Amino acid sequence: MRILGIETSCDETAAAVIEATGPAARPCIRILSNVIASQAKLHAKFGGVVPHLAKREHQRNLVPVFSMALREAGLRNPKAEARNPKQILDSKFKILNSILEREPDLLARVLKRVAPLKPPAIDAVAVTVGPGLAPALWVGVNFAKALAYLWEKPIIPVNHLEGHIYTNLLPQFDRVERRKTKVQCFRSPIPYLLTPIRFPALCLIVSGGHTELVLMPGRSRYRVIGETRDDAAGEAFDKVAKMLGLGFPGGPVISRLAERGNLHAISFPRPMLHAANFDFSFSGLKTAVLYTIRDRRRLTERAKRDIAASFEQAAVDVLVAKTVRAAGQYRVKTVMIGGGVAANKKLRADLGQALQRSLPDTCYLTPDTSLTGDNALMIALAGYFNRKKKTARWAAIRADANLRLR
Ligand code: KG4
Ligand code: ZN
Repeated sequence: MRILGIETSCDETAAAVIEATGPAARPCIRILSNVIASQAKLHAKFGGVVPHLAKREHQRNLVPVFSMALREAGLRNPKAEARNPKQILDSKFKILNSILEREPDLLARVLKRVAPLKPPAIDAVAVTVGPGLAPALWVGVNFAKALAYLWEKPIIPVNHLEGHIYTNLLPQFDRVERRKTKVQCFRSPIPYLLTPIRFPALCLIVSGGHTELVLMPGRSRYRVIGETRDDAAGEAFDKVAKMLGLGFPGGPVISRLAERGNLHAISFPRPMLHAANFDFSFSGLKTAVLYTIRDRRRLTERAKRDIAASFEQAAVDVLVAKTVRAAGQYRVKTVMIGGGVAANKKLRADLGQALQRSLPDTCYLTPDTSLTGDNALMIALAGYFNRKKKTARWAAIRADANLRLR
């Protein structure tokens, strides 16, 4: 089964193609392509993702990213164009126009570059339908609908957070062919056997928009047992970075600075650490950092490093303590992490050590750091596990900015 994945929920425009072979429960996956164009630089000027700019950029980038994903996957060559593009366009224009009514820039690109293509050899289009920024999500969803209509292929609607969870099943890609230009791209023709998850499992999802502890009693079954009451973990990293004048996104810069700082320098609060639930709160921690900065007359480089290290340790302590406690209480057999903040070295290491200490029989999985940020490979993979949801009724597919895992 070959699946094209599409992801536009936030500020990454991404497309990927995977091929699954072998037994359905434990397939072999080949990554035929995984292409990501990031808008981070554009949004950096505003200190956060601006939804209408994200929509504009997705409209610009989606067709080139998609074309590259097909080309890398060997599913498109220039000679494969349909014989009568003009005729196809005339007959399909009206419906394409209605699907992409709200994305006129994308419509123009689809008419020019996508409609004349022969349908490639894929079995379904998996697309992120939520959660995320509504204007951004709709670009990907409407593009997937246009493809489904043009090629007569089914759509698999995917929950973005499920994608982050499934990155844990892939191996670490130390030796993978990777290119990093304006768009990030990698492919791996070697088939990978997915890591089996022993259930019940627990996944800590930590990103710019989410902080959730998700219990999985079995495959594709989810129960959110804890979540943030205010800021998401990644958002706290981003806001602290902004206060320190370090740019956006803040997570990577903070953690780099923190490596050379003293994590005991400032004793920041660990919000909700001892609360009798699995919820999180990061706004108090963020405010404590703000006061610390305000109280200093001058912010030396050393002070910045110490604040970064002390803040990172406080945030990681809460994430680790709650995850380990939940793992023990629900007697889970596997603990996983996912989302942008899962790239954080301190979090990965401290959680591993804490599990080793308190629950040594628990299997601890972490995703390759190239897959912690948003990408379409994870959406294609989640699409594979949700293949029963595939539908030819593309017209009924909708984006849902507040989609929950269930
Ligand atoms: O999953 P993601 O790419 O996008 C969302 O769905 O939000 O996550 C982005 C978030 C940003 O807040 C970014 O600062 C954070 O992940 N992040 C990190 C690190 N790398 C990215 N946070 C802490 N440490 C990192 N190394
Ligand atoms: Zn994400």
